[in-house]
Amino acid sequence: MSDDLTFARGILARAERVVVFTGAGVSAESGVPTFRGPGGLWKTFRPEQLATPEAFARDPRLVWEWYGWRRDLVAACPPNLAHVVLARWMLLRGGVTLVTQNVDDLHERGAEEAALGLLREGRLAAAAVNGDEDDLRAAARPIAARAAPIRLHGSLFHVHCTRCGEQREHHGAVDATSETTLPRCAACGGLLRPGVVWFGEALPEGALEAAFAAAAVAHVCLVVGTAGAVQPAAALVDEAAGAGARVIVVDPGKTAYDGMADVRLWGTAGEMVPALLAGSGS
Ligand code: OAD
Repeated sequence: MSDDLTFARGILARAERVVVFTGAGVSAESGVPTFRGPGGLWKTFRPEQLATPEAFARDPRLVWEWYGWRRDLVAACPPNLAHVVLARWMLLRGGVTLVTQNVDDLHERGAEEAALGLLREGRLAAAAVNGDEDDLRAAARPIAARAAPIRLHGSLFHVHCTRCGEQREHHGAVDATSETTLPRCAACGGLLRPGVVWFGEALPEGALEAAFAAAAVAHVCLVVGTAGAVQPAAALVDEAAGAGARVIVVDPGKTAYDGMADVRLWGTAGEMVPALLAGSGS
């Protein structure tokens, strides 16, 4: 094992409170494209045409077509080892706050898989589980919620009503053949928009505060798969480091945090996260 990996494991083992900060790279091995770098979404698409309130006001059909495509793509991608091992580690260890910029819900799905696995192994207790698969899944859900991330940029599977402001989950295919077929609010008939944060918009109320509060008291900040290019989310790591946290960065490419990292692990999330967390109760 490399010295860096051993050192990082030691730091994590001694840390009472950890904040984990993830970006698109943690989902890359699931098949979800990142935003920047080779094959990144912003290489092919222009954010100002698709990911701003102005773009939606100008052409809601085009914007919905793109988000519908991303939603279908992500729904067909499974969580990878990094999502599952991270969630398993959080559930067994406690004291970890996960903050993500991702809108793909793969941390949530990874947590369900982790909770199911731990229930099957008898490593977590749950009431009224008799081995029946439906029972087991029902018991896993509230456990998985304990490893749910704070989502800084919303979710592809949430919508907001542009008229009454109603927010809710929304799954399934989106018919973007014309403006009249776009999803509508069940309450007021208003046009629904994707529940993601667009450029120029404020982050969800409470999420940023909760994330920064966790960063301010963390002993370690573990950063996985983010270039650190988008504010205010990216400043989470500066907040943690400024308050004294050790910083561990897992990424195969350069990031904005390379100069400040106490440990820099050059590798993919799928290989490095399991290696890092192995042996610490996961
Ligand atoms: P980026 O696309 O900017 O960065 C992805 C990072 O993942 C890069 O540092 C890559 O080197 C790294 N990476 C690639 N493959 C990886 C792998 N297998 N394992 C680990 N890391 C890998 O994505 P984000 O930093 O998430 O915002 O981007 C931040 C925000 O910019 C997004 O939330 C989105 C985007 O515009 C909004 O839409 C508001």
